[in-house]
Amino acid sequence: MKITVFEDYKKMSQAAAKLLYSEIKKKPSALVCIATGSTPTLAYDLLTQKYQKDKTAFNKLRIIKLDEWGGIPSDDPATCETYIQEHIIKPLNISDKRYTSFHSNPKDKEREVKRISNKLAQEGPIDICVLGLGVNGHLGFNEPADWLHANVHIAHLTATTKHHSMAKKAKHTIKYGLTLGLSNIMNAKKIILLVNGKSKEKIVEKLMEGKITAHLPGSMLWIHPDVTLYCDKEAV
Ligand code: GLP
Repeated sequence: MKITVFEDYKKMSQAAAKLLYSEIKKKPSALVCIATGSTPTLAYDLLTQKYQKDKTAFNKLRIIKLDEWGGIPSDDPATCETYIQEHIIKPLNISDKRYTSFHSNPKDKEREVKRISNKLAQEGPIDICVLGLGVNGHLGFNEPADWLHANVHIAHLTATTKHHSMAKKAKHTIKYGLTLGLSNIMNAKKIILLVNGKSKEKIVEKLMEGKITAHLPGSMLWIHPDVTLYCDKEAV
Protein backbone atom coordinates (compact mmCIF):
# COMPACT_ATOMS: atom_id res chain seq x y z
CA MET A 1 0.00 0.00 0.00
CA LYS A 2 1.45 3.36 -1.03
CA ILE A 3 0.40 5.80 1.67
CA THR A 4 0.46 9.59 1.39
CA VAL A 5 -0.74 11.90 4.15
CA PHE A 6 -1.85 15.34 2.95
CA GLU A 7 -2.05 18.57 4.90
CA ASP A 8 -5.81 18.84 4.39
CA TYR A 9 -8.87 17.53 2.55
CA LYS A 10 -8.38 19.91 -0.38
CA LYS A 11 -4.80 18.78 -1.04
CA MET A 12 -5.84 15.13 -0.74
CA SER A 13 -8.68 15.67 -3.22
CA GLN A 14 -6.46 17.54 -5.68
CA ALA A 15 -3.97 14.67 -5.65
CA ALA A 16 -6.76 12.11 -6.09
CA ALA A 17 -8.24 14.01 -9.06
CA LYS A 18 -4.77 14.31 -10.61
CA LEU A 19 -4.11 10.60 -10.21
CA LEU A 20 -7.51 9.64 -11.63
CA TYR A 21 -7.03 11.96 -14.59
CA SER A 22 -3.57 10.58 -15.38
CA GLU A 23 -4.89 6.99 -15.20
CA ILE A 24 -7.79 7.88 -17.52
CA LYS A 25 -5.34 9.50 -19.95
CA LYS A 26 -3.29 6.27 -19.96
CA LYS A 27 -6.37 4.17 -20.70
CA PRO A 28 -9.31 6.21 -22.04
CA SER A 29 -11.66 3.20 -22.06
CA ALA A 30 -10.90 2.41 -18.41
CA LEU A 31 -13.65 0.90 -16.27
CA VAL A 32 -13.71 3.02 -13.13
CA CYS A 33 -15.57 1.92 -10.02
CA ILE A 34 -17.01 4.84 -8.11
CA ALA A 35 -17.58 5.00 -4.37
CA THR A 36 -19.97 7.63 -3.07
CA GLY A 37 -20.10 9.34 0.35
CA SER A 38 -18.57 12.55 1.61
CA THR A 39 -14.91 11.58 1.11
CA PRO A 40 -14.48 11.57 -2.71
CA THR A 41 -16.83 14.46 -3.55
CA LEU A 42 -14.22 17.18 -4.01
CA ALA A 43 -11.95 14.84 -5.99
CA TYR A 44 -14.84 14.12 -8.37
CA ASP A 45 -15.68 17.81 -8.69
CA LEU A 46 -12.04 18.59 -9.49
CA LEU A 47 -12.03 15.79 -12.05
CA THR A 48 -15.00 17.50 -13.68
CA GLN A 49 -12.88 20.65 -14.04
CA LYS A 50 -10.28 18.57 -15.89
CA TYR A 51 -13.07 17.26 -18.13
CA GLN A 52 -14.06 20.83 -19.03
CA LYS A 53 -10.54 21.42 -20.41
CA ASP A 54 -10.05 18.02 -22.05
CA LYS A 55 -13.42 16.46 -22.94
CA THR A 56 -12.11 13.94 -25.45
CA ALA A 57 -10.04 12.24 -22.72
CA PHE A 58 -13.31 11.15 -21.13
CA ASN A 59 -15.36 10.07 -24.12
CA LYS A 60 -14.66 6.35 -23.76
CA LEU A 61 -14.57 6.23 -19.96
CA ARG A 62 -16.78 3.54 -18.39
CA ILE A 63 -18.23 3.80 -14.90
CA ILE A 64 -19.54 1.18 -12.48
CA LYS A 65 -21.24 2.06 -9.22
CA LEU A 66 -19.69 0.40 -6.17
CA ASP A 67 -22.80 0.10 -4.03
CA GLU A 68 -26.32 1.29 -3.39
CA TRP A 69 -28.80 1.76 -0.56
CA GLY A 70 -31.56 -0.78 -1.11
CA GLY A 71 -35.34 -0.62 -0.88
CA ILE A 72 -35.67 3.10 -1.65
CA PRO A 73 -36.57 4.78 -4.97
CA SER A 74 -33.62 5.74 -7.15
CA ASP A 75 -34.48 9.45 -6.98
CA ASP A 76 -34.43 9.49 -3.17
CA PRO A 77 -31.85 12.13 -2.10
CA ALA A 78 -29.95 9.44 -0.17
CA THR A 79 -29.21 7.10 -3.06
CA CYS A 80 -25.77 6.58 -4.49
CA GLU A 81 -27.53 7.01 -7.84
CA THR A 82 -28.56 10.59 -6.98
CA TYR A 83 -24.98 11.32 -5.89
CA ILE A 84 -23.28 9.69 -8.83
CA GLN A 85 -25.59 11.34 -11.38
CA GLU A 86 -24.77 14.74 -9.87
CA HIS A 87 -21.01 14.32 -9.41
CA ILE A 88 -19.98 11.93 -12.18
CA ILE A 89 -22.51 10.88 -14.82
CA LYS A 90 -23.97 14.26 -15.79
CA PRO A 91 -20.82 16.41 -15.44
CA LEU A 92 -18.64 13.90 -17.31
CA ASN A 93 -21.37 13.22 -19.87
CA ILE A 94 -21.28 9.44 -19.43
CA SER A 95 -23.81 7.73 -21.71
CA ASP A 96 -26.07 4.90 -20.46
CA LYS A 97 -24.02 2.45 -22.49
CA ARG A 98 -20.92 3.37 -20.47
CA TYR A 99 -22.56 3.16 -17.06
CA THR A 100 -23.28 0.07 -14.96
CA SER A 101 -25.47 0.67 -11.96
CA PHE A 102 -27.52 -1.20 -9.40
CA HIS A 103 -31.21 -0.29 -9.27
CA SER A 104 -31.88 0.82 -5.72
CA ASN A 105 -35.27 -0.83 -5.44
CA PRO A 106 -35.33 -3.89 -7.68
CA LYS A 107 -38.45 -6.09 -7.75
CA ASP A 108 -36.25 -9.15 -7.66
CA LYS A 109 -33.07 -8.52 -5.64
CA GLU A 110 -31.34 -11.77 -6.60
CA ARG A 111 -31.98 -11.05 -10.26
CA GLU A 112 -30.43 -7.61 -9.85
CA VAL A 113 -27.36 -9.18 -8.24
CA LYS A 114 -27.08 -11.56 -11.19
CA ARG A 115 -27.53 -8.73 -13.70
CA ILE A 116 -24.68 -6.71 -12.20
CA SER A 117 -22.47 -9.84 -11.89
CA ASN A 118 -23.02 -10.63 -15.56
CA LYS A 119 -22.37 -7.04 -16.59
CA LEU A 120 -19.13 -6.98 -14.60
CA ALA A 121 -18.06 -10.28 -16.18
CA GLN A 122 -18.58 -8.70 -19.62
CA GLU A 123 -17.10 -5.28 -18.89
CA GLY A 124 -14.52 -6.08 -16.24
CA PRO A 125 -12.17 -6.34 -14.61
CA ILE A 126 -12.28 -2.90 -13.05
CA ASP A 127 -9.25 -0.82 -14.05
CA ILE A 128 -9.42 1.76 -11.26
CA CYS A 129 -11.47 1.29 -8.12
CA VAL A 130 -12.07 4.40 -6.01
CA LEU A 131 -12.96 3.48 -2.44
CA GLY A 132 -13.82 5.19 0.80
CA LEU A 133 -13.52 3.58 4.23
CA GLY A 134 -16.50 3.28 6.56
CA VAL A 135 -16.00 4.29 10.20
CA ASN A 136 -16.46 0.59 10.93
CA GLY A 137 -13.91 -0.41 8.28
CA HIS A 138 -16.35 -1.37 5.54
CA LEU A 139 -15.59 -1.14 1.82
CA GLY A 140 -18.71 -0.49 -0.23
CA PHE A 141 -21.29 -2.40 1.78
CA ASN A 142 -18.91 -5.20 2.66
CA GLU A 143 -19.55 -4.92 6.35
CA PRO A 144 -17.35 -6.29 9.16
CA ALA A 145 -18.33 -9.92 9.82
CA ASP A 146 -16.89 -13.38 10.49
CA TRP A 147 -16.68 -13.93 6.76
CA LEU A 148 -17.01 -11.81 3.64
CA HIS A 149 -18.75 -12.24 0.29
CA ALA A 150 -16.53 -12.61 -2.75
CA ASN A 151 -19.06 -11.39 -5.29
CA VAL A 152 -21.90 -8.95 -5.89
CA HIS A 153 -24.48 -9.41 -3.16
CA ILE A 154 -27.29 -8.08 -1.03
CA ALA A 155 -25.79 -6.78 2.21
CA HIS A 156 -27.23 -6.69 5.68
CA LEU A 157 -26.38 -3.19 6.92
CA THR A 158 -24.94 -2.66 10.39
CA ALA A 159 -26.43 -0.07 12.76
CA THR A 160 -23.33 2.13 12.24
CA THR A 161 -23.83 2.15 8.49
CA LYS A 162 -27.53 2.96 8.83
CA HIS A 163 -26.38 6.16 10.55
CA HIS A 164 -24.14 7.19 7.66
CA SER A 165 -24.62 10.80 6.53
CA MET A 166 -26.14 9.67 3.21
CA ALA A 167 -28.67 7.41 4.94
CA LYS A 168 -29.77 10.29 7.14
CA LYS A 169 -31.02 12.12 4.03
CA ALA A 170 -33.32 9.24 3.05
CA LYS A 171 -37.03 10.00 2.64
CA HIS A 172 -37.82 6.27 2.68
CA THR A 173 -36.65 3.44 4.91
CA ILE A 174 -33.43 1.85 3.77
CA LYS A 175 -33.80 -1.92 4.01
CA TYR A 176 -30.52 -3.39 2.79
CA GLY A 177 -27.46 -2.65 0.71
CA LEU A 178 -26.43 -3.77 -2.79
CA THR A 179 -22.69 -3.98 -3.32
CA LEU A 180 -19.80 -5.37 -5.28
CA GLY A 181 -18.02 -8.05 -3.25
CA LEU A 182 -14.45 -8.24 -2.02
CA SER A 183 -13.25 -10.33 -4.93
CA ASN A 184 -14.77 -7.90 -7.45
CA ILE A 185 -12.88 -5.11 -5.68
CA MET A 186 -9.63 -7.06 -5.28
CA ASN A 187 -9.65 -7.96 -8.98
CA ALA A 188 -9.37 -4.26 -9.83
CA LYS A 189 -6.03 -3.46 -11.43
CA LYS A 190 -5.57 -0.34 -9.32
CA ILE A 191 -7.25 0.76 -6.10
CA ILE A 192 -7.38 4.33 -4.79
CA LEU A 193 -8.52 4.48 -1.17
CA LEU A 194 -9.43 7.94 0.15
CA VAL A 195 -9.82 8.63 3.85
CA ASN A 196 -10.23 11.96 5.60
CA GLY A 197 -11.38 13.53 8.82
CA LYS A 198 -11.16 12.97 12.56
CA SER A 199 -14.03 10.44 12.52
CA LYS A 200 -11.78 8.00 10.62
CA GLU A 201 -8.77 8.29 12.96
CA LYS A 202 -9.56 5.17 15.00
CA ILE A 203 -10.26 2.92 12.04
CA VAL A 204 -7.15 4.17 10.20
CA GLU A 205 -5.07 3.35 13.28
CA LYS A 206 -6.46 -0.21 13.21
CA LEU A 207 -5.89 -0.51 9.49
CA MET A 208 -2.27 0.53 9.96
CA GLU A 209 -1.68 -2.47 12.25
CA GLY A 210 -1.50 -4.44 9.01
CA LYS A 211 -3.57 -7.32 10.37
CA ILE A 212 -5.88 -8.81 7.77
CA THR A 213 -9.31 -9.64 9.13
CA ALA A 214 -12.91 -9.91 7.91
CA HIS A 215 -13.81 -7.77 10.91
CA LEU A 216 -12.10 -4.87 9.14
CA PRO A 217 -12.87 -5.38 5.44
CA GLY A 218 -10.53 -2.51 4.49
CA SER A 219 -7.60 -4.58 5.81
CA MET A 220 -8.02 -6.94 2.81
CA LEU A 221 -6.41 -4.18 0.77
CA TRP A 222 -3.03 -5.12 2.28
CA ILE A 223 -3.11 -8.16 -0.04
CA HIS A 224 -3.65 -6.14 -3.22
CA PRO A 225 -0.50 -5.30 -5.25
CA ASP A 226 -1.51 -1.77 -6.27
CA VAL A 227 -3.28 0.28 -3.61
CA THR A 228 -2.77 4.01 -3.23
CA LEU A 229 -4.04 5.35 0.07
CA TYR A 230 -4.50 9.10 0.22
CA CYS A 231 -5.54 10.54 3.55
CA ASP A 232 -5.50 13.88 5.30
CA LYS A 233 -3.68 14.70 8.56
CA GLU A 234 -6.87 14.55 10.60
CA ALA A 235 -7.42 10.89 9.76
CA VAL A 236 -4.02 9.70 11.02
C1 GLP B 1 -20.69 4.41 2.77
C2 GLP B 1 -20.62 3.81 1.37
C3 GLP B 1 -19.21 3.58 0.93
C4 GLP B 1 -18.38 4.76 1.33
C5 GLP B 1 -18.21 4.74 2.83
C6 GLP B 1 -17.53 5.94 3.42
O1 GLP B 1 -21.58 3.73 3.56
N1 GLP B 1 -21.35 2.59 1.28
O2 GLP B 1 -19.16 3.35 -0.47
O3 GLP B 1 -17.14 4.70 0.70
O4 GLP B 1 -19.45 4.49 3.48
O5 GLP B 1 -18.36 7.06 3.36
P1 GLP B 1 -17.86 8.54 3.67
O6 GLP B 1 -16.92 8.90 2.58
O7 GLP B 1 -19.09 9.40 3.63
O8 GLP B 1 -17.22 8.51 5.00
